[in-house]
Amino acid sequence: MENTAVNIDWDKIDNIIESYNRDRESLLMIMQDISDIYNYLPPETVPVLARKLGVRESLVYSVASFYKTISLEPRGKYIIHVCTGTACHVRGAEKITQSLESDLGINEGQTTEDKMFTLEAVRCIGCCASGPVITVNQDTHGGLDRSSVLEVVNEYKRSASS
Ligand code: FES
Repeated sequence: MENTAVNIDWDKIDNIIESYNRDRESLLMIMQDISDIYNYLPPETVPVLARKLGVRESLVYSVASFYKTISLEPRGKYIIHVCTGTACHVRGAEKITQSLESDLGINEGQTTEDKMFTLEAVRCIGCCASGPVITVNQDTHGGLDRSSVLEVVNEYKRSASS
């Protein structure tokens, strides 16, 4: 059985590191670029990053745990962020989360088995007037309720299967 969750394209990883001139100050950007390819930072890349940038592995791990956009666990193709800031909370963010959890069959913080969706709660994302708000990758959707949020997710399901 294969140990790695993904097949890592090491040439691509090298190219990313080189494109930042192996600059340790660019560690976060390099980690982000790698995450953009795999939807997470494969843990196998940590020792390589540490060696090539001349930093400790522990630094790479602490950056990964500090920034919500970086995950060492495989994540879904679509990352759903439910805003749980105050304005969205009063407008029913909890119902949005419950609706998504039951539709996707996962709890907040988890990824669907088919690696299609990851559901995460986040703090205010700055568009409180449109609350309750979710983002799916780079897209923002507001003014949602229990059922309209599922229509939004269905759009992504459809585009993934087409
Ligand atoms: S509280 Fe949700 S966008 Fe501000």
